[in-house]
Amino acid sequence: MKILSSFILLSIFFACGSNPSSDEAQASNPYSAGEEVYENNCIACHQKNGEGVVEAFPPLAGSDYLLADKNRAIGIAANGMSGEITVNDVKYNSVMASQGLTKEEVRDVMNYILNSWGNDGGEVTLKEVEAVMK
Ligand code: HEC
Repeated sequence: MKILSSFILLSIFFACGSNPSSDEAQASNPYSAGEEVYENNCIACHQKNGEGVVEAFPPLAGSDYLLADKNRAIGIAANGMSGEITVNDVKYNSVMASQGLTKEEVRDVMNYILNSWGNDGGEVTLKEVEAVMK
């Protein structure tokens, strides 16, 4: 129900825009707002299919680290991260800078990455993002 109502709100939001083709994309894909955020801010490192680049940029597709802790992942999308982590048995010790996203963009991109490439990580609400970003 929550997904449906935020989808309706997003549809209204996009219906106010001028581009009719983006309305169509929105209607067929509830995560298209998040997909756009991903393409603009994440894809260069984590790649189109979410697989990352081994030993440089960790994967988001099937990432045990991402899927283990939703609030931690919200914090990374919002603020970036650094230090050693292990993702699917591969070690990374690098830096991801904050991408400077708004709360809405963090919510949208989180919902996109949690529900793409076979991930089934559920839903992130604006409230949850606010709790992490405040
Ligand atoms: C400039 C490259 C770069 C960009 C752009 C980038 N990341 Fe990252 N990301 C990294 C690196 C490097 C790490 C691992 C950092 C470490 O080793 O501590 C990481 C780690 C992560 C992790 C935790 C590890 C995992 O794979 O589950 C998540 C989640 C994540 N990024 C999501 C995002 C999202 C969402 C965006 C876009 C809003 C994004 N990243 C943009 C480089 C990037």
